[in-house]
Amino acid sequence: MKLKRYISSTAIQNRVAQIGSKINKDFKNKNLVVICVLNGAFMFCSDLIKHISLELEIDFIKLSSYKNSKKSSGKISILQELNCDISRKDILIVEDIVDTGLTIKFLRNLLKKKNPDSIKVATLLHKTDVSNIDFKIDYTGFEIENKFVVGYGLDYAQKYRNLKGIYLMS
Ligand code: IMP
Repeated sequence: MKLKRYISSTAIQNRVAQIGSKINKDFKNKNLVVICVLNGAFMFCSDLIKHISLELEIDFIKLSSYKNSKKSSGKISILQELNCDISRKDILIVEDIVDTGLTIKFLRNLLKKKNPDSIKVATLLHKTDVSNIDFKIDYTGFEIENKFVVGYGLDYAQKYRNLKGIYLMS
């Protein structure tokens, strides 16, 4: 497997800080609950919340669609549910990447049923040519082409999550 650097760690850190300050403005006086989508978003989420100076709760949900392949299986399963009550709360979903958009669609619909006041979405990466969604992504780190990437939380067969930057895999 060959890895080619695609987005540097410095570029990521700068962008994460910018998104954090936008979130500070947008969620002022709101009841912010950050929902980190495991596993891929753990690194982005942990860096992002360090730039949020508001009071917040954080919870984790674990979803799976890929099963060790580079293509989405199209079937999403919940591997770990939320623990907190999100009714009347202002939700920020933190995702690693929007590819087809199936996962984020599924998650938004799932959370809507729990009666939050609002739902916003932050994703580090967005494959805009591939995704098919009928709502806007509120915060996007980088729009990328339709290539498989790893690093900064994103894996291939559970590997490469620890890399500080984003790499193209070939
Ligand atoms: P979607 O449902 O097709 O939008 O895919 C979302 C999920 O697939 C993400 O949360 C990732 O876990 C995984 N994924 C999609 N594209 C990539 C990629 O290029 N590298 C690693 N994981 C990916």
